[in-house]
Amino acid sequence: MPDQTITITDNRTGKSYTLPVEHGAIRATDLRQIKTQDDDQGLCTYDPGFMNTAACKSRITYIDGDKGILEYRGYPIEQLAENCTFLEVAYLLYYGELPDKASFDSFAYNITHHTILHENIKQFMHGFRYDAHPMGMFLSTVAALSTFYPEAKALSDPAVRLKQMYRLVAKVPTIGAFIYRHNMGLPYAYPDNDLSYTGNFLNMLYKRTESKYKVNPAMERALDILFILHADHEQNCSTTAMRSVGSAQTDAYSSVAAAAAALYGPLHGGANEAVLKMLRVIGDKKNIPDFIKRVKGGEGRLMGFGHRVYKNYDPRARVIKQAADQVFEITGKNPLIDIAVELERIALEDEYFIKRKLYPNVDFYSGIIYEAMGIPGEMFTVMFAMPRTIGWLTHYEEMLADSDQKIARPKQLFLGAARRDFVPMDQRKAT
Ligand code: CMC
Repeated sequence: MPDQTITITDNRTGKSYTLPVEHGAIRATDLRQIKTQDDDQGLCTYDPGFMNTAACKSRITYIDGDKGILEYRGYPIEQLAENCTFLEVAYLLYYGELPDKASFDSFAYNITHHTILHENIKQFMHGFRYDAHPMGMFLSTVAALSTFYPEAKALSDPAVRLKQMYRLVAKVPTIGAFIYRHNMGLPYAYPDNDLSYTGNFLNMLYKRTESKYKVNPAMERALDILFILHADHEQNCSTTAMRSVGSAQTDAYSSVAAAAAALYGPLHGGANEAVLKMLRVIGDKKNIPDFIKRVKGGEGRLMGFGHRVYKNYDPRARVIKQAADQVFEITGKNPLIDIAVELERIALEDEYFIKRKLYPNVDFYSGIIYEAMGIPGEMFTVMFAMPRTIGWLTHYEEMLADSDQKIARPKQLFLGAARRDFVPMDQRKAT
């Protein structure tokens, strides 16, 4: 028995059980021995939405939601956002350490040389309607990649897994940019290997007839910061989807598509698009008090506010707010920022939000910057999915290497009908 234990007395039987405590947790399967009869399945926990259940041990990202702390591999997010490029952070997440120059160059080379999409993928994307939602296009196109790289099914081979990571991280900006171009009716712009990860993305979005796209370094830097902030966030809904689907030994493309589907939801990555819609509905600072009153009355939520883990200011929202000023210097101010800042001020002074510890989250300001950069609202969740791809793949890798992991398969508390016999249709009561 380890040093730390807990003793549970079952008041139904009067029996006591001593269970080991490791890393502040008990193993749920240890509860199975707590039974009222020999043939019952034993005690389990009931935890919809995984409010208090750790599904894995992880060494990737640390969050202290009460203090508003976010660290990737031990490094505070603020330091990474200030000093790194997105690709450096991608390396850090995946390998656990910041790269030296040679390792970084080799990593960047491998990513840069997998950015091209097979021409048939272009044809596949061409099949979407002009107004198809970018996230629907994104997740289906990523899923379609699994048919182009069937070797990705060989999950037990580390070299195969590494190659799919290079491909996915490299290709998601190309997919994202092609989606934008498709929706705008513009010809697709191909990747430019001379540019950085974020510079190339801007090139694929905005290049017109010029032979070489000139990247604005301030925009490139702002995009690096935004991508760094979105790269990982431990066991959120989409990462949990990635791990659950991957636990069935599903290939990386199909698993990333599943994670992207989870991200699509308005309570997760879809919130940034919803924030902009909300700010437009509010329309003017003078309408904020009435809007807040309606939220408090149960008419919808204040989008971009609240978080399952952060019960303090989301540190990513603070960094984004600072980056907004840098972007507005180039693009001009997005008028919605004034409504957002005032909305935040009023909400943070309101008893309803104070009591529930509801603060701005990452999505509150990200959409405003993306819009100022010329990116349409429907693309915002794609802008989240692209940098999150490395986070999903890092968790996938960690999960596959973890001998504790099994196929995800929660229990249920069955409350349905007891056993009964079949009744032919002509003898059934009206339903
Ligand atoms: N506006 C108004 N009330 C809220 C909000 C909000 N944004 N968020 C939570 N509440 C209230 C909720 O009504 C409940 O009140 P009561 O106790 O009176 O019933 C209480 O706060 C607790 O809410 P909950 O739904 O139990 O909290 P949760 O941890 O299950 O939900 C959340 C977290 C992010 C889904 C939720 O805060 C929300 O819907 N926020 C708006 C959507 C949003 O901005 N999502 C982006 C999250 S950050 C990006 C990401 O990681 O995906």
